[in-house]
Amino acid sequence: MSANARISALTPPDVLAKKGGEPLVCLTAYTTPLARIVDRHCDIVLVGDSVGMVLHGLRSTVGVSLDMMIMHGQAVRRGVERALLVVDMPFGSYEESPEQAFRNASRIMAETGCGAVKLEGGETMEKTIRFLTRRGIPVMAHIGLTPQAVNTFGGYKVQGRGDDAFHILRDAETVAEAGAFSVVLEKVTATLADRITTSIPIPTIGIGASRTCDGQILVVDDMLGMFDTFRPKFVKRFAELGEASDAAIAAYAREVRSREFPSDVHIFTDGNKGKTE
Ligand code: KIV
Repeated sequence: MSANARISALTPPDVLAKKGGEPLVCLTAYTTPLARIVDRHCDIVLVGDSVGMVLHGLRSTVGVSLDMMIMHGQAVRRGVERALLVVDMPFGSYEESPEQAFRNASRIMAETGCGAVKLEGGETMEKTIRFLTRRGIPVMAHIGLTPQAVNTFGGYKVQGRGDDAFHILRDAETVAEAGAFSVVLEKVTATLADRITTSIPIPTIGIGASRTCDGQILVVDDMLGMFDTFRPKFVKRFAELGEASDAAIAAYAREVRSREFPSDVHIFTDGNKGKTE
């Protein structure tokens, strides 16, 4: 069996079956080494289109291409053995029609070996989610703050306050009814997230939502303290790897300038070969 044909240990039906159970642990990953670590601890590894901002320096996810998602999806696939691998459909790759979405989602699945795709949108994506899920493509939906629509929202604002709550609840019911196996709730009020979680039969995965969601997700570079461009309230930093990297690189620069590095243990002599050559 080729690497791309490998079935993840955890499948979309397994995730669906975890509704109301122990919280689903989810993180993004974009590279093989980090995917290996994330896979050891998480149920779902998402190759989010946040990769555009986190690793490529884009100002939003709008500029992320299908080829970028496929390349990072392949890298992450090599590091994931037990979690469910989900790959984001980038802006412009699915909104036009269900047929366009199928063409691009099937390419993502075939070329990365992921177990599901994620797309943004609620009621407007009903037909597309139905079309994909009836044709063998499991879909994770994403509602509330949908970052690909940042230009329409006018910023990364909290969603679901006032009358808006009703529309987001409808979005949640619609994506569940259309066949999505789970739904990400991003930056919605906790009251709304609680209500959605108790009203729909599929797992809700919160990011800036509520602790009652069926699972939680964060951008891995955010929670490791590696990404500083935005620092939303919902990000808890579990490490400060950005600061640690800065200190390490500063020490390297100092030692190179003072000729302290490389020292004898890092260079090769004419004599007998050492064990660590
Ligand atoms: O792109 C992304 O990383 C995401 C998650 C944060 C939900 O969509």
